[in-house]
This record gives sequence, C-alpha cells and structure tokens, in this order.
Amino acid sequence: MVTSEATPFAKTGGLADVVGSLSPALRARGEDVAVFLPRYRAISLDGLTRVYDDLPIWLGPVCYSASLYQGEDRGVPYYFLDCPPLFDRDGLYGDAVGDYPDSHLRFAAFSRAALDLVRRIFRPQIIHCHDWQAALVPIYIRTLFAGDPTFFGLKTVLSIHNLGYQGLFDGAILPDIGLDPSLFRPDSLEFFGRVNLLKGGLLYSDALTTVSRKYAQEIRTPKLGFGLEGVLSDRADALTGILNGVDYSQWDPRTDPFIAARYSPDNLEGKRECKADLLDAFSLSRENLGRPLLGIVSRLVGQKGFDLIEQVAASLLDEDLCLVALGTGDPRYERFFTDLAALHPEKVGVRIAYDEPLAHKVEAGADIFLMPSQYEPSGLNQMFSLRYGTVPVVRATGGLDDTIDAETGFKFEDYTGEALLEALRAALAAYGDPETWTAMMLAGMRRDFSWQASAAEYSALYRRLTA
Ligand code: ADP
Ligand code: GLC
Repeated sequence: MVTSEATPFAKTGGLADVVGSLSPALRARGEDVAVFLPRYRAISLDGLTRVYDDLPIWLGPVCYSASLYQGEDRGVPYYFLDCPPLFDRDGLYGDAVGDYPDSHLRFAAFSRAALDLVRRIFRPQIIHCHDWQAALVPIYIRTLFAGDPTFFGLKTVLSIHNLGYQGLFDGAILPDIGLDPSLFRPDSLEFFGRVNLLKGGLLYSDALTTVSRKYAQEIRTPKLGFGLEGVLSDRADALTGILNGVDYSQWDPRTDPFIAARYSPDNLEGKRECKADLLDAFSLSRENLGRPLLGIVSRLVGQKGFDLIEQVAASLLDEDLCLVALGTGDPRYERFFTDLAALHPEKVGVRIAYDEPLAHKVEAGADIFLMPSQYEPSGLNQMFSLRYGTVPVVRATGGLDDTIDAETGFKFEDYTGEALLEALRAALAAYGDPETWTAMMLAGMRRDFSWQASAAEYSALYRRLTA
C-alpha cells in the first residue's frame, strides 16, 4: 500500500481509517501486506528501526537524500520515508497559511521512494496506490521505468477515495518531477492546460477501484466526474466499486474507551449517559436530555453539504432540538457554525477542532447523525453512527446511498435545503414515537459493515490481476 495517510500514524480523514484497517484485514486473510507512508513530523522515530541510510531520490536535476524506517501496527509492517526537507512539517498537506506549494515535489519524491522500496526491501506482486499522492507510482512505472525489468509483471491498483482532489499543477512542473515534457498531452497528464496526476494514475494503473458501488457509477457522469468522467468511462472495465468497512475494534459502543458508558443492542441503557455526557461536553443543559440531539463530525468543506444547513438553519432551529458539531476546515463553515452557536447558545454547541475522543462521544451521545453531503465516495461516519444506534439523515449519494435504507435511516435525493428539512422532519417525527425509534436504532446497530467482506473483494481483485 502506498498512501499519504494511515491510522494510527497520520490522519486527516477516512483514507487513514481505510488503509489502517484494510491492511490488517487483508493480513488476516493471509495476504502479505506492507504499507509505505511519509514520515511526517507528528510520527515519532522512537520505536521505528532505520532500515536504509542515504537513499538518493532524484527528481529531475535535484537529488534529495532520505532514509527508510520500519515500524509495525497490528502485525502489518510499515515503512516510512524520512526526508526532512519535504516532510518534517506540521501538517500533512498544508498549514494555517494554506496548501504547501511544493506538494508535487513531496509526493513525487515519495512515489519514487516507493519504487526504491520495491527494488531493495519489500518486493510485492501488486502495488496498491491511494489517491493522487501515490498516482505517480503507476505513472513512473509506465514512463520513466518502462523497460526496467524490476517492474516486469508487477501490477498496480489505484484507489480513488475522492475525485475532488486530483493533484493539479502547472504544466511546467514535469521536468521537476523527473518526467518528460512530452507527457503534457491530452491522452496523458495534460488536463485543461494543467498537469493532473490523478488522471495519469487513472490511465497508467492496471486496475482502478473506488470506495462504493454507487460512487463508481457517479464518477462516470459529468455531474460527479470532475472532468475525468471521460477517462473513467473509457476505463470502466478496469474500475470496481468496493465499499469501505468499519474497524469495529475502534468503533463499537460495547468497548469504546472514549465514551461515558458502554452499551449494545441488548442493553441500550448506557446511551442515555453518553447523551448526558455529550451535552456536558458542549456546555448544553442536561434539561435537553428528552429532546432530539443532532450530531455532526466532519471536515468542514463544500463536499459535505453544509451550505444546505446554512440555507435552512433558521427553520431547523425552530424545531425542538439541539445540535452539536465537531469539525475544522473552510473558514466559511467554521464561521457559520461558530455564529450559529453564538446565536443559539442554549441549542447549539460547536467545537472547531480535530478531536478524536470527542468524535466518539458525538457518535455515541447523539440521537441523529447529519450527513447531507453533496457527494460522498463512501463515508465512514454514517456507518459508525449505525453501530452506535445514532440514526443517520443523509443525502442519497455515493456510499451514503449504499449503506443507509428505510429501516436504518433517512435519505433525501435533491440537493436542496427543502429536501434536507423534509428528511429531518421525518426523522424527528419518528423520534417522537419511541417504539419506531428503538426499532430503527436496533436495525442499524445490527448491520454488519466490518472489513471482512470488503477485504475479500480486494483479495479477489488481486488474484484476478496476478492470475
Ligand atoms: P472524509 O474522509 O471525506 O473526511 P469519512 O466519513 O470517510 O470522510 O471519514 C472521516 C473520518 O475523519 C472519520 O474517522 C471521522 O471521525 C474523522 N473526523 C473528521 N473530522 C474530525 C474531527 N474534527 N475530529 C475528529 N475526527 C474527525
Ligand atoms: C474520502 C471520502 C470519503 C471516504 C474516504 C475513505 O475522503 O470523502 O467518503 O470514506 O475517502 O475512502
């Protein structure tokens, strides 16, 4: 696995959960898996073993000197690229000022180093790359190293976790990342006058996957293809949708160490205590225990549909309910939620932060989980919510559509505030009828979205490729 994120080492979103839990699930099936990650500043070298010194990484005329470290998580070996000028920084992709301007160099060096790892340390049959940050791996294999016997017979898989992030750069960067400028053409890396690394990965990988069946269809249409629908349609035969799983060793109210009380479908008692604890955490009165409590945990970005909540905030808060939101991201939405809490301090609690324990408390303590995404490749939070008996209200897109049905939650189709409000009112009405509500909670809690089935689908794909 070549990836820019994996739990427990580096995380900004669901990609980290996926690689961090798919890998041990594959290992449990007998696959010999290793993961390759950049060594960001937050990853301590304590406990890691240095396995390669002075690895030269050439990018065009420039050479970086790097080392490789090895660690382990749940039996899976992890290799880390230590290259301080590129990765010894506070953020993964950027800081308070914005995205790092040299990320093409950072992830080009990382992808080149992945090929050195393959050459020198861990020789796989398949390199499974994730998102644009690893898309240069198949590109290098098919261009710079075409004809290099090291890579003969080796297959590449590229997983798309989010087509909204493509690795778009100025057309002039190709020599800086060691690629021939002749690749700047429409049937290769050129995309509307810029270089598109994800596009290159889509063209040069042996197989493509994305993280739900519905999203695999949606990205072949102009509406959600982000300009790559043509490339994806041409490669439809190579593209499979495999739904993400949930790591129930981390996300289960029976065992969750972060929540105020444990509970299960056999005994829901503890959930009320979790709700009280959540109200406390957001400084909302415990007098609200009887009211429906809505929860949000999210990157605060356009994809997640917060403009719909903006549109209907006033009507939403006319209802007899409370809302708690945890997230960071776009200043526009951070401000929206902060202002909303300032305007309705008795009903709305907001935490602008990345806070893992609090994310667990929201999953456990809320009654309803809100995910009105404009698009959602898979989404994990709605599946976490099901396990915690927190009924999801979602937009019927991507993985949300594939995982939520009328027995377990509420869905709306149209991307409008009206449609969101209607679904939410249906949820509030159901909440008002304890019998219906408990049945929905239990139906969701009993659904199984563990990695087992999805890991088996990846194994089958690997087998097809190596047959
Ligand atoms: P995405 O990858 O698009 O952000 P997912 O639903 O796949 O969406 O995964 C999001 C993951 O990130 C979940 O594990 C969620 O709990 C976590 N997460 C998102 N925002 C926060 C936050 N502010 N604090 C803690 N965890 C967060
Ligand atoms: C992306 C998507 C999310 C998905 C995650 C892991 O960040 O936005 O829907 O669950 O990747 O695949």
